Amino acid sequence: MSAPQQPYSITYLPANTTVHVDPAKVPYDRHGKPGSILEIAMGHAVDIDHACGGVAACSTCHVIVKSGFESMVPADEQEEDMLDTAPGVTPRSRLACQAVARGTCDLVVEVPTWNRNHAKEGAH
Ligand code: FES
Repeated sequence: MSAPQQPYSITYLPANTTVHVDPAKVPYDRHGKPGSILEIAMGHAVDIDHACGGVAACSTCHVIVKSGFESMVPADEQEEDMLDTAPGVTPRSRLACQAVARGTCDLVVEVPTWNRNHAKEGAH
């Protein structure tokens, strides 16, 4: 079972916005996998760029899981392949639209600078 079974929180940096995730309310919206970091962000007005609409076909939703990485459901091959094309990938990088947490601990997720700039430009 990959979906979170218990409440947990995600703090998005650098906005420092903490979202409390209630598994009973997931999915919030339809951006990426149900319960993904992107979906939860979009459901709480936290901006993460998602050029392909959340189907693991871009990499603009690249985020770095600073804390709680061990609670993430491992990336599948499609996510791994697409992540390889993202700039500034780290061992804790994930595609926000594909990354689902098991909810066993709280997460701290950083939206990289280049994504934030891109999102701002796209908001016109
Ligand atoms: S939104 Fe395109 S890969 Fe996540």
